[in-house]
Amino acid sequence: MAAVAMVVAITVVVMTTMIGVMGEDLHRVGGSKGWRPDVNYTDWFAHEKTIYVGDWLIFYFDKRYYNVLEVNKTSYEQCIDKDFVKNVTRGGRDVVQLTEPRAYYYLSSGGYCFHQMRVAVNVVAKDEGKDHHTPTIAPASSAPSQNSASSIIIVPSIVIACIWIVIVNAINVSLFNFK
Ligand SMILES: *[C@@H]1O[C@H](CO)[C@@H](O)[C@H](O)[C@H]1NC(C)=O
Ligand SMILES: *[C@@H]1O[C@H](CO)[C@@H](O)[C@H](O)[C@H]1NC(C)=O
Ligand SMILES: *[C@@H]1O[C@H](CO)[C@@H](O)[C@H](O)[C@H]1NC(C)=O
Repeated sequence: MAAVAMVVAITVVVMTTMIGVMGEDLHRVGGSKGWRPDVNYTDWFAHEKTIYVGDWLIFYFDKRYYNVLEVNKTSYEQCIDKDFVKNVTRGGRDVVQLTEPRAYYYLSSGGYCFHQMRVAVNVVAKDEGKDHHTPTIAPASSAPSQNSASSIIIVPSIVIACIWIVIVNAINVSLFNFK
């Protein structure tokens, strides 16, 4: 069981690192609330950082009740779940990559759309938004930048280091006991 947990942890760390290295962000829909009724997803999107082409959405939900369907704008506005564009639902921790600079619309069927379970996200091209950002040279004394890309890489590295220490200690202990 511990071994399984460790494999899962390492897999998550490696995937997170890969997404970070590729410059893509993972946006958790609804933040800590996840995907459920009575969350204002318009409000979530308004406060979420910019979503760029290539970024991913992750929906955390209880698949016994809810699902994630991509729909068009009309269906989003009117909560129509018939003839959807794409079914994103898998196990309840489902990711979808946003590959085009456009608006994407998702809802949950089963009547939950009428309880606010719908989200519209606007995806912008990578070079948009960078236009009005002039690169500046940071002074040598400034603190390391805290942008998401660097923390995505640094945090997993620390986790890997900790896991490695645990493994090495476990091996040492078993060798010691064997003698
Ligand atoms: C959700 O939030 C948006 C703005 O953040 C607001 O305009 C809208 O009225 C809210 N919707 C509901 C149902 O409360
Ligand atoms: C949106 O999807 C619905 C359901 O498939 C369809 O009836 C409608 O014509 C579509 N609207 C647009 C603008 O594509
Ligand atoms: C969406 O896909 C899931 C998993 O394949 C499936 O269980 C579910 O019935 C599908 N939902 C719809 C509305 O097609």
